Parts: sequence; structure tokens; C-alpha cells
Amino acid sequence: MHGFSYKNGSLFCENIDLSTLVAEHGTPLYVYSAGTILDHYTRLDAALGSTDHEVAYAVKANSNLSVLRLLASHGAGFDIVSGGELFRVIKAGGDPAHCTFAGVGKTRDEIVYALQQGIYSFNVESEEELRYLNQVAGELGMIAPAAVRVNPNVDAKTHKYISTGKSENKFGVDFGAISDLYERAAKELKNIKLRGLQMHIGSQLTSIAPFIEAVEKVIPLVTELKARHGIEFWSIGGGIGIIYQESLKSGNADWWASQPENERPLTIEQYGKELVPRLKDLGLKILLEPGRYIVGNAGVLLTKCLYEKKGSAKTFKIVDAGMNDLIRPALYEGHHEIVPLVEPSSTERIKVDVVGPICESGDFFCQDRLLPDFNPGDYIALMSAGAYGFAMASNYNSRPLPAEILVEGGNATVIRKRQTLEDLIEGEH
Ligand code: LLP
Repeated sequence: MHGFSYKNGSLFCENIDLSTLVAEHGTPLYVYSAGTILDHYTRLDAALGSTDHEVAYAVKANSNLSVLRLLASHGAGFDIVSGGELFRVIKAGGDPAHCTFAGVGKTRDEIVYALQQGIYSFNVESEEELRYLNQVAGELGMIAPAAVRVNPNVDAKTHKYISTGKSENKFGVDFGAISDLYERAAKELKNIKLRGLQMHIGSQLTSIAPFIEAVEKVIPLVTELKARHGIEFWSIGGGIGIIYQESLKSGNADWWASQPENERPLTIEQYGKELVPRLKDLGLKILLEPGRYIVGNAGVLLTKCLYEKKGSAKTFKIVDAGMNDLIRPALYEGHHEIVPLVEPSSTERIKVDVVGPICESGDFFCQDRLLPDFNPGDYIALMSAGAYGFAMASNYNSRPLPAEILVEGGNATVIRKRQTLEDLIEGEH
């Protein structure tokens, strides 16, 4: 569920008419619903029930300071992948002691910074990295808390660029090699405290089966590591998928209720119901690293139609947002539902490509999609753009980054101002 819906013919975010925001702030414009972010965070937290657990929000999905502050103030921990993300979390009032640090290529500077800030755990992706972490911690006279990422070799059945839990992916250490690695580390690496085990099989998983398969496969391993090395946590990663295809309808509880039981997309309640019985008696703190589930449906990218171009083969609607603002369609063939800010009065649909101004054929938001007609000057929303939207935006084609707005009930706050042309060349000579 989320905070975007038509009210009296206009698309709203919570109690704010999005047309008023584009009039005031221009486009392209990212808008987030604080209520949706908190609702998702709270529902995930509740789905884990009384199991000892912590939600460590994956900062990479949306790292705006105000989003981080909102989550920090409601007790979230954070999963970070760079020194930059740790810096953001600290600036937003997050507690480093509730941060885990993932990623296959941590630099010395990042390791030193994270050690000095006292993070909860380095989630280590190779023996080489674990040995380097031990060395750096030794030089600083510190003990580094660590968990190794196990690669359980489970097929997440998601896009190949966001699937991470198979042996051919660069992530983690082979399932069969973990036990010996922990033995060696316990004997040889005196500046490492083995604190947990981590896994993450992929992103945008829309069925529960791969989660169950991975959890069941790793339970004997994690139980052994607890007995032998006294580890205290198991991070089962993120990856919970969201609705992209019927994003607008999925904001409504009645829509969920109307979905046939066996076809219903993965719900957070199902996630909890299936996983909690398997996890609750392990005597381990369970960490979750959701990114997309928390913020994905909580954000939209608003853009204005500039031109309509009728080619011999296609009709193009050219808008003022481009792949530099939202790269998911170009990079992963990601589907974002497109809806006009003014509710269409007819059910007529036309087949169009909605494209941006960037000089690349991959710069499209949809191809050959049936949409309600809209004209130059009209505004549309690209739904479900709250995760990996602004966070992956770039200045490609020397386009200033869009502004970001956070809506809380009837209040809309600019949480990142639109870049200016001067911002574009800052630091250059
Ligand atoms: N934990 C680890 C170790 C990860 O690598 C990721 C995502 C997460 C947690 C959070 O996953 P989530 O809950 O958001 O699925 N840019 C792509 C997604 C890349 C995901 C990278 N890792 C997209 O737009 O679909």
C-alpha cells in the first residue's frame, strides 16, 4: 500500500495535489510519501513479530538525508556499502553501532573510517578482504567485528543484473567454504571478532520460494557457526520485491484483497509468516536489509511532456526526464507504470513510446505501451520510483539533478534542491 491515489480527478501524494508541486518546483521532480515509508518499515518490523531482529535499511536504495533521518528516528539500523553512505547516516542522526557495511571492494580509507565510527559489523565478501580487515584493525590496535557473506547458490529468479546468490555471481563466499574459513579466522585473525553470518540472494524477488530455499539451506551452517564461534547475528539480506506493473492500484487495500490467493504478489505478511517459524528459535539476532520494499512504492518521478513526435512506425511522447534521472528501464528493462497527473476521463488508450531528451536510443521509460493520451504541456508520473531512482541519477548530458520533495500529510518539504548550472561545473577548471 502507498500514499498515491487520484482524488477528485487529480493525482495526490497523501494530502498534497501533485499538480501544485510541479507548478511550484518544476520538473523532473521526485516526490516521496513519508507515511508510506514509515508504513512499510513498521509492517516489516511487525511481520518479524517477537523474533529478535533489526531492520537495517539498505541506504543505496534512497540515501537522501531526510529519508535516512525519518527511518533513524523510528529506530532503523542501516546497511551501507561505502564510506559515503556511512557519512550520510551519521549526518542524518543514525547510529553507527547499528550499521552493517557490505560490498566486495572496501578501501583502506573506508575500513579505517568505519572502524573509528564503531560500526556493528563488516559484512565481508572474501577471505582476502577478511585478512586485510584484520591487518588494518591490527595497525589501529582495534578489533573489527565481522560477518562473512555466504553465497548459498540459490536462484533468485530475478533480472540477471540484480541476482546475487548464485556461484557465478561475484558476491560472497561459497557455501561449502564458509565453515573452514571461520575455523581459520578464529585461529589466525586475532583482530577479527566473528560476529555473524550474512547472505543476500538478489533484489526484486516476487515469490517467497527462493527466500525459503536459501534460509533452509543455511540454517545448519549458521547453527554450527553459533555453536563453534559464538556468532550472535544472521543477516538474511534484503530483496523483497514490490509491485511495478499495477503500482497505482496496489496503493489500495481493496486491490490486494481482490487478488486471488495463489496469484497474489509476495506480501510482507507472507514473508513474515513463512520465515519467522524457521528463524525464531535459532537464538540469533535476525537482521534484514530491505531497500526497495521500504522506499520503492513510496516515490514517484514527475515529468512534463515536451513534444509529441509521430514517426512512420511509432508515436513518441518526449518528456523532460531522461535516463539520467531514472535509469531502471534502460538498465534492467524496469517497468514503471505511467499515469497522468490529471485523471483520464476516457478509457481510450493509445500505443506510445515515452522517451527522454538524452542522446541514446536506450533513453525510454516505456515502449509500445498502451497509455491514456496526453499532450505537450501535460504532466505524468512514473510510479514506484522511490528506490534506485534518484540514488542512481547522474549528470549525464550535463543535466542538473532533479529536486526531491518529501510529503508528510499536508506538508511538502524540499529535501534536495534542484541543481543549478553552476552546481554542474563545481570543482572543475
Ligand atoms: N543487501 C545487499 C547486500 C544488497 O546488495 C542489496 C541490494 C540490498 C541489501 C537491498 O536489496 P533490496 O531490498 O533493495 O532489493 N539498482 C537495482 C537494484 C540493485 C540492488 C543491489 N543490492 C534496481 O534498480 O533494481
